[in-house]
Amino acid sequence: MRWIDGLEAAAAEKLPEPVHRYFRQGSAGGISVGEATAAWNAYRFRPRVLTDVSTVDISTTVLGTPVDGPVLVAPTTLQRQADPGGEAAMAAGVAAANSVIGISSNAGTTFADIGAAGAPWWLQIYVVKNRDVTLRMLDAAVAAGARAVVLTADTPVVGRKEDDGPTIWEVIQPGHLLANLDEGEYAVEDLGKADNLTPDVIGWLAERTGLPVLVKGVLRGDDAKRCADAGAAGIIVSNHGGRQLDGAIPTARALPEVAEALAGTPTEIYVDGGIRRGEHVLTALALGARAVFVGRPALWALTVDSSAGVTRLLTDLGEELTHAMRLVGSPTIADLTPDLITR
Ligand code: FNR
Repeated sequence: MRWIDGLEAAAAEKLPEPVHRYFRQGSAGGISVGEATAAWNAYRFRPRVLTDVSTVDISTTVLGTPVDGPVLVAPTTLQRQADPGGEAAMAAGVAAANSVIGISSNAGTTFADIGAAGAPWWLQIYVVKNRDVTLRMLDAAVAAGARAVVLTADTPVVGRKEDDGPTIWEVIQPGHLLANLDEGEYAVEDLGKADNLTPDVIGWLAERTGLPVLVKGVLRGDDAKRCADAGAAGIIVSNHGGRQLDGAIPTARALPEVAEALAGTPTEIYVDGGIRRGEHVLTALALGARAVFVGRPALWALTVDSSAGVTRLLTDLGEELTHAMRLVGSPTIADLTPDLITR
């Protein structure tokens, strides 16, 4: 069996059941989480023949940072439940693959330890009701070397999960969440998600940090344009892995609209959700993404084989992409154009 396809089952044997369920679940009826990969599989290729594919180069840059391949690791919570090293172990695996990692603002590892792992990292931020909390987190991330801020915009409230049995919140080990926040200093209301955000928050984040800001959770062309006009350096087409609005459009189908809206602008486009194969990466890049993120596969890989598992996940997906690029007749990422794809 393909190593990646066996990862979740292997991880499930090592993880407490509520943790496995938390990692895999979607919100509400599970429609969006269930159809994410199928939406990538629904595309077909129009390969070019008789092109010289003796050398295929999948290296690229993401917001100016060079990477060996266009597969990055998405921000996810509770990585210390997967591996004692948590986000630092994930980041070390990413560093060995010369990629980039997104770090959740709920991370259970300090930004300093994450930075010391050596991978370029982007801070994912939830802006919360008490802006001082957010400002302190931003300052700490900048001090620890974060290279970009990823504003998650699809979470004015947290998506409803329909759990049978103990939830993650009943089993979570102390210290595995919010290592970069002194929770005791704040009231619960301070830490609630801000539900009144408008595009001017993009400039606020950029000004405070001096870093490029990406907006994650965009599923419409007009929203992508609004964010770009407000100064976003990048857009991440995402439905949060099917964990926010259930029934939200698959990212594979939203991506072309966003690419069209941002055509001819310098705003970089990224996508995540259900990407499990090199062919899915190829599809995403041909449709206009600069790179993709993987969420759950990285959690399974971290659980199964710590940093080495994460490195293998990224290199395996890179090798599959290289192979698929040979077959589709595209020696470089610049050759991946929309005419290669049909539905
Ligand atoms: C997430 N995701 C997420 N996103 C975010 O912006 N901040 C966060 O803290 C988290 N936490 C989180 C936890 C878990 C367990 C999962 C599975 C996901 C969403 C994540 O960044 C990404 O959008 C999706 O995981 C991508 O879909 P796939 O690759 O998991 O299908």
